[in-house]
Amino acid sequence: MGPYVKLIWLLTISVLLLGVSLVWFCKEFNPEWKQCQRAEIEDNESLKGKKLEIKQILLKGEGLWSHQESGQRVDRCMTCHIDEDKLVKLHPKDLPIPFDVYGCTVCHGGNGRALESEPAHEHMYADREAMEEGRYSADEFIKMWKRLRDLNPEEEIRLRRESFLGPTGQYQLYVGNDECVGCHKENDMHPDHVKRWSNTKFKTFERIQKEPDYQAGDENYKKQCYKCHTTGYREDKGIYASEGVGCEACHGPGEVYSYLMQGFRDEEYDIAQGQKLAKASFDFSICGDCHIPKRHEMRKAYFEKQAQKK
Ligand code: HEC
Ligand code: HEC
Ligand code: HEC
Ligand code: HEC
Ligand code: HEC
Ligand code: HEC
Repeated sequence: MGPYVKLIWLLTISVLLLGVSLVWFCKEFNPEWKQCQRAEIEDNESLKGKKLEIKQILLKGEGLWSHQESGQRVDRCMTCHIDEDKLVKLHPKDLPIPFDVYGCTVCHGGNGRALESEPAHEHMYADREAMEEGRYSADEFIKMWKRLRDLNPEEEIRLRRESFLGPTGQYQLYVGNDECVGCHKENDMHPDHVKRWSNTKFKTFERIQKEPDYQAGDENYKKQCYKCHTTGYREDKGIYASEGVGCEACHGPGEVYSYLMQGFRDEEYDIAQGQKLAKASFDFSICGDCHIPKRHEMRKAYFEKQAQKK
């Protein structure tokens, strides 16, 4: 080898090394997250002057080696998505779960620890459509519900209703008795159970409406009755999906599982997935929401007062 060739080799290697060091340098001192955060801070008046730092949400539940993580679970998505006002605007209004408890990955998937967008966004559900398409299997839902429960164990009672949440983390819709009965009766599926409930339960609300205390009561009084005598009552909003104790009062909102049950009408859907999901959504403890011993104390108070007046 001539001396020139050696020199050229040496030069090439030095240039390469320099290049690598430069890239490393840039990544180390001006990583992607800092660039993103700077851009977000410039965008928003109320973030002005904020120090650049890694922002993370501590999540409940221990990380497991089997999930390629250990120790504390965190979502660091907010390191780049730091502008909370912007996030709130991008999200549906009625998301039942606060970011600071549930983080981001529970709905969006992705990799919560990563600080570069490419690995962070890998396997992510980017928007509504992706969430809906990605989560049409019973196992995906069950995984999400379990995760929701782990993230907020103190609210176990409320989160017994984790199965009330659909693929986008919003409340599922109640499809109504007609939908369930139509399909189940038409195909002679479990007709006894269906017949029994449709005979005894659906019309009871009319009876309630004729009660003297109900008629005399104001909206706040009536709301107490809705809790047990309607289906899909939302205490926070004071609205219900339908009157009376319908199928979904016990089986939970049917938006997703009844959709999956379409299987027998259309082979594209998988009945077994719907069945599995309906099974997972049902829990006997739901009876205790309404069948409590002192459920009619307010009625007793009303009637006692009426009796005293006489
Ligand atoms: C290193 C910074 C960074 C991190 C970390 C990061 N993102 Fe992003 N994300 C961005 C940027 C920048 C965009 C805008 C990209 C674009 O417009 O193409 C974006 C876009 C998005 C979008 C909009 C959909 C899309 O594809 O344009 C969603 C949803 C999102 N990120 C969620 C997440 C979630 C969830 C995490 C955590 C698992 C996360 N991001 C972590 C920088 C980041
Ligand atoms: C409860 C579920 C849920 C959680 C938790 C959640 N998101 Fe979302 N996110 C959604 C849904 C649903 C949409 C779609 C909104 C729509 O299309 O109206 C969305 C939309 C977005 C978008 C806009 C995507 C687009 O293409 O328009 C971004 C960015 C985003 N989320 C980031 C985040 C980040 C960052 C976090 C954590 C701080 C987070 N989200 C937590 C459900 C969630
Ligand atoms: C499009 C038709 C269709 C609709 C709509 C529908 N179902 Fe089903 N459902 C089925 C089929 C098919 C099965 C499977 C029956 C079987 O083989 O036992 C099933 C099974 C079930 C099961 C049994 C799950 C198990 O334990 O295996 C329940 C519970 C159920 N449906 C409740 C409902 C309720 C409540 C609604 C309304 C919210 C509803 N279904 C709407 C078709 C439907
Ligand atoms: C915590 C749940 C709960 C609340 C709140 C509640 N109910 Fe009830 N109600 C039930 C249950 C369960 C039954 C069926 C068992 C029974 O007969 O006691 C029932 C039965 C009834 C019946 C008898 C129906 C019949 O003819 O068999 C009437 C009438 C009634 N409720 C009226 C009301 C009115 C009016 C209110 C509101 C002021 C109300 N209830 C609030 C749970 C509740
Ligand atoms: C008061 C509560 C309640 C109501 C209302 C109710 N169900 Fe059920 N349903 C149950 C219980 C409890 C089971 C048994 C679940 C179990 O053992 O896992 C069941 C089981 C079922 C099954 C599976 C039956 C089987 O033999 O395996 C179907 C299908 C079903 N229900 C459909 C319906 C439909 C359709 C309606 C509305 C017409 C309805 N249910 C209303 C409580 C209810
Ligand atoms: C949303 C509230 C609610 C839930 C949840 C609920 N019930 Fe009821 N249940 C009622 C009301 C209200 C009545 C009285 C209806 C009426 O006026 O006849 C009732 C009546 C009954 C009756 C009286 C029998 C009949 O056919 O008239 C039985 C038995 C019963 N429920 C069992 C159950 C079981 C078992 C569960 C759980 C799988 C359950 N209920 C869940 C509200 C509820």
